[in-house]
Amino acid sequence: MTALEFNRQLNLQAKSPAEREAIFANPGFCNFMTDHMVDICWSETGGWHRPRIQPYGPIEIEPAAAVLHYGQEIFEGLKAYRHADGSIWTFRPDANARRFQSSAARMALPELPVEYFLDSLKALISVDADWVPSAPETSLYLRPFMFGKEAFLGVRPAKKVAYYLIAGPAGAYFTSGAAPVSIWLSENYSRAGKGGTGAAKTGGNYAASLVAQNEAYANGCQQVLFLDSTTNSYIEELGGMNVVFVYKDGTLVTPLSDSILPGITRDSVLTLAEERGHTVHRRPVTIQEWRDGVESGDIVEVFACGTAAVITPIGELKAKDFTIGSTDTGPGELTMSLREELTDIQYGRRPDTHGWMYRLDG
Ligand code: PLP
Ligand code: COI
Repeated sequence: MTALEFNRQLNLQAKSPAEREAIFANPGFCNFMTDHMVDICWSETGGWHRPRIQPYGPIEIEPAAAVLHYGQEIFEGLKAYRHADGSIWTFRPDANARRFQSSAARMALPELPVEYFLDSLKALISVDADWVPSAPETSLYLRPFMFGKEAFLGVRPAKKVAYYLIAGPAGAYFTSGAAPVSIWLSENYSRAGKGGTGAAKTGGNYAASLVAQNEAYANGCQQVLFLDSTTNSYIEELGGMNVVFVYKDGTLVTPLSDSILPGITRDSVLTLAEERGHTVHRRPVTIQEWRDGVESGDIVEVFACGTAAVITPIGELKAKDFTIGSTDTGPGELTMSLREELTDIQYGRRPDTHGWMYRLDG
């Protein structure tokens, strides 16, 4: 497949270096967007066409557009990292591109070729390279997304679709940085069900998580943990991250279910752990196993992982009637050492022996 030729319209009101530096000083998690965005159109008759780079700004969409009514939408999340020599890299973008395709298939959207996904990342960096920060543990978060834009109110897949890529500088996802977080157990709400859309990265899953996330905030927790919707006993994942348990004997266990998002961070971290000689199990895990494991001392560390959160220790799980663990114990040793190994690879501080890094500039 040939590389896309992007039509390029530069932003004449681009932020000044001083304005950008002010944003870098306190980026939050994508509180600001870069100067440009990329888009590619798709139609049933014309396929993928009109790739563009244009100024970041409001997009025109008809009120009857499919996405506004029936939520036909998918997205991805990955980061651009500035290495010490100034070069700009991202992490396993082919895996995000393939997951974008499987999310598209689930939501009856067209599959964007992997090459076009990668081309769009490079196209955005070709105009917004200065937006990749260089302070420790900061990055430019890249957000590809796709939605049905055809205007009609019948319930069927849209025949006109838009793909966009936007980006914003990112610091730590949790304001507490890498300190252990408190998680709230959602007992009233599920995120996904059997045969549903849990394994797709689609907006509706996140919309379904918000009311439970509000419960978490109301109970002093930063994230919410969902259980399977059939038995309410198997651990699925957090609203926006996967979960991994570390056992006393060094075994790592992560829940297996077809209604959770197959995380690229989780896959990478478990690969690193296996290479260190740890046994890794991907299998169903009940909430009772977590309770018993912490009580008996068999489970010694628990962490959340995802692109936004990187690897964040989980200190405690709070539920209506019980609490497991405590945030006083501090981050686990293996959690932090895996976090360091992963971020060292991402920021180019350690050799990339897996071919995970992909250069976006130059
Ligand atoms: N689970 C959910 C629901 C997510 O939103 C994310 C974040 O993308 C993850 C897991 C972790 O996925 P990844 O490591 O690919 O970012
Ligand atoms: C990411 O980590 O990229 C995510 O998509 C999670 C975000 C929605 C918090």
